[in-house]
Amino acid sequence: MRPLTLTDLNPAILKVQYAVRGELAIKAEELREKLQSESHGLPFNKVISSNIGNPQQRGLDQPYLTFTRQVAALMEYPPLAEIVKDKWPQDVLDRARELHEEIGSIGAYSHSKGVPLIRKHVAQFIEERDGYPSDPEDIFLTAGASAGVSLILNVLITPNVTGVLIPIPQYPLYTATLAQYSGVALPYHLSEPEGWSTSLEEIKSALAKAEKDGVKPRALVVINPGNPTGAILDKDTMRNLVNLCEEHSLVLLADEVYQANLHRPDTHPFHSFKQVVREMNSPIPLFSFHSISKGVKGECGRRGGYFECTNISDEVRALLYKMASVSLCPPLSGQIGVDCLVRPPRPNDPSYPLWKRETDTIHAALRQRTQLMAQRLNALPGVSCVDSPGALYLYPKLELPDKAVEEARRLGKQPDELYALQLLEETGICVVPGSGFGQKDGEHHYRLTCLCPGVEEYVSALENFHLKFLQNFGLRVSWLFGPPLSVQFIDISHIKGTQQ
Ligand SMILES: Cc1ncc(COP(=O)(O)O)c(C=O)c1O
Repeated sequence: MRPLTLTDLNPAILKVQYAVRGELAIKAEELREKLQSESHGLPFNKVISSNIGNPQQRGLDQPYLTFTRQVAALMEYPPLAEIVKDKWPQDVLDRARELHEEIGSIGAYSHSKGVPLIRKHVAQFIEERDGYPSDPEDIFLTAGASAGVSLILNVLITPNVTGVLIPIPQYPLYTATLAQYSGVALPYHLSEPEGWSTSLEEIKSALAKAEKDGVKPRALVVINPGNPTGAILDKDTMRNLVNLCEEHSLVLLADEVYQANLHRPDTHPFHSFKQVVREMNSPIPLFSFHSISKGVKGECGRRGGYFECTNISDEVRALLYKMASVSLCPPLSGQIGVDCLVRPPRPNDPSYPLWKRETDTIHAALRQRTQLMAQRLNALPGVSCVDSPGALYLYPKLELPDKAVEEARRLGKQPDELYALQLLEETGICVVPGSGFGQKDGEHHYRLTCLCPGVEEYVSALENFHLKFLQNFGLRVSWLFGPPLSVQFIDISHIKGTQQ
C-alpha cells in the first residue's frame, strides 16, 4: 500500500499558515527543553513567551480569578460543596447550585447552541453593556471565539468566489480560516502613522480591487480592540463602517474579544458594534464575538466564548444551529467560564472584594507593562511603537539596516523573522515577526505581549539585543548608555479613525 503523503490531502489545508504558533514558537519550545540540562550553554536562563496572548501559560503565570475557579471546581465535583460550605463564599455556592440544577453533570452534551440559562445570562450582559435588548436565541456559545469565527466563515464562503475584507495587520486566525475554506482574503491596511486607524478609503480601494478581480465581497472583519495593534475604534469610524457595510451589502464580523482590555478607558472607551448598529437602526447583518480567553480571565484552555447574531434571519440562524449541532456542543467547562465572565460578583456579593482586588491588579499590571514597553521601545534608534490603548500587545516597527535585509534574503527569511530568531537565540525572548500578521512591502515589525512579568529585566535584554543587532549589521549607534531620562509620547488622539 502507498503511504499517505501531503499530496493526498486537501490542498486548501496545505495553504494554512498560523505564525503565532509557527517556527519561532517551535524553536522556543526546543530551547526550553535545552534549558533543562545544566550544561545547556545558552546565554539566558529562561524562555520568555512574549509571542502569544495566553496569560496563564507557564512562565507568564497570570493568576486565575478565584471566583471563576471555585465555581468551576464545584461544577466538576458537586460533592465538594459539602466540604467547602462554611469556607467558600455563599455566592459561589449559590452560583454552582443554580448552574448544577440547570445543567446536571457537566459530563453530558448540552444544547448545541449552549446551555439555555447561560445564553440568557449572556443576553442580559449584552443588554446591560449596550442599553439595547438581546435575545438568548441569537446567542451561540462556542469553543472559544475561534470556533465561532470558523463557523461563520464556513457558512459565508463559497470557495474561490467569496471575498472577506480583513485588516492588515491581522490576527492570523482570519487568513488561516479563509485559506482553509478557500475564501479570498481582501486585505485593507490600517494606518500606522495615525495610531493604526481604520481608513474607509483603504477599504473602498480593497472593494474596487475585488470587483476588478471578479471576487464577490461578502463580509468585513473588524478587530476592536485590535490584535496585533491594540488600537480602539472611535464611534464616528464605527458608524462609517456600518454605513459602508450597508452600501456594499457586507456582513460585519466584529471580533471584540479584547473589549475588557482597556488601558486608558476614560479617554479610550470601548463601544460594541451591536450598540452602534442599534443606535443607527441599521439593518446590516452583524456577528459579534467574545471570549473567556482574554480580558483578565485568561482562561484560554477552557475554550469558552460566544457570538451574538444581530439582524440575522430565522432561516440563517437555523442553518447556523444545524452546523453547530454537527460538533454537538461547546465544552461545558468553557460554557461555565462564559457564565462567570458575563455574571461576575456584584458589589454586595461576598466574593466581590476579592474579585475586585484580583481584577484590578491584573488590569494595572497589563497597563503598566504596556506603557513601560512602549516608552522604552520608542527610545531605541530605529524603533517606533504606537502606545496601544487596548488589547494585550505592542507592535513596534523596525528600521533594519540594509545588510540585515540582505542577510535575511540570503537565508530565505523575512528580515523581521531573522531579527526575531536572533532575539530568541540570544535572549530567550520569543516574539512573532510582523510578516506573520501582514504588513506593507518593505516594512518590518514584531508583536510582543504585555503579559510577561519581570518587564524591566526583559525590556533591558531587548534593548541590548537591538543595539547589538544594529551594530552587527554595520549601523553606528550613538545610544549606548541607556535610555534618555524622559521620553515624549506622540499624541495622536486627535486623529480620526482611532483613539490611538
Ligand atoms: C483577535 C482575536 N480573536 C480571536 C481569538 C481567539 O480566541 P479564543 O481563545 O477565544 O478562541 C484571539 C486569540 O488570541 C484573538 O487575538
